[in-house]
Amino acid sequence: MLVVTTIAALRSRREELLRRDTRVAFVPTMGALHEGHLALVHRGRALADEVWVSVFVNPTQFAPHEDFTTYPRDLESDREALERSGAAVLFAPSMREMYPRPSATTIDLAELTVGMCGAQRPGHFRGVALVVTKLLNIVQPDVALFGAKDWQQATVIRRLVEDLNIPTRIEVHPTVREDDGVALSSRNAYLSPPERAAARVLSQALGNAEEAIRAGERRGSVLEALMAERVAGEPLAHLQYAAAVDPDALHPVRIVTGRVLLALAVFVGSTRLIDNLLVEGV
Ligand code: PAF
Repeated sequence: MLVVTTIAALRSRREELLRRDTRVAFVPTMGALHEGHLALVHRGRALADEVWVSVFVNPTQFAPHEDFTTYPRDLESDREALERSGAAVLFAPSMREMYPRPSATTIDLAELTVGMCGAQRPGHFRGVALVVTKLLNIVQPDVALFGAKDWQQATVIRRLVEDLNIPTRIEVHPTVREDDGVALSSRNAYLSPPERAAARVLSQALGNAEEAIRAGERRGSVLEALMAERVAGEPLAHLQYAAAVDPDALHPVRIVTGRVLLALAVFVGSTRLIDNLLVEGV
């Protein structure tokens, strides 16, 4: 596996592959790789000739009080995991390489980011949209893969690729979970053992709301209250939001018909976790 740290070196490798008509699948990450990321690499191998992975903890998507400085970083173990999983290129640029000066450009997908994580983390999706656009322009992949756990992020990225005519297909992969239902996340590393046990409350609350839908409940507000109630029953958890939204437009659903996205953000101790569940065939 090739480790590349400069945009110039990555571009020249990409040009070489374009001449040979070699297809590239791209998995952008912030490192601290887990099985969820590796599942994306695995899927990428089925879709393209080479899988390229970026590891870059992007400062522009963190607010000043958030965990940018403490975000888990272990490039050597990420490199080993990627080597084992058959990735062809690891792109690990420095901050200066990605942002030689502060960006004057803003990409704002207002209508998709007013609710859920966008409401709780103002500016977060502008940072995500900026870095993903930069990365897609640098790598020029045929396909890029994202996890469904970050549903709002994936929706924003799909839309910006469409709006800006970026010639990359976006594929979103199902959330990978532990046996007890907890969604894999790099931030799970922050949890103490009791907090890790408490983190089960997210998938349990989503499961309760899904059961209610299957039993005939259709009111979005009732589904949100059900999830909130379940989270409130876990002493180490503190709800940030519980939402029942349209899976594409991301606006709140008053009465569920067809399909609905159930989404949660919960602090477990001081760690903010998100999870969601797409319920179809309603
Ligand atoms: O999902 C992530 O890890 C990040 O938000 C991404 C897409 C790599 C952009 O920094």
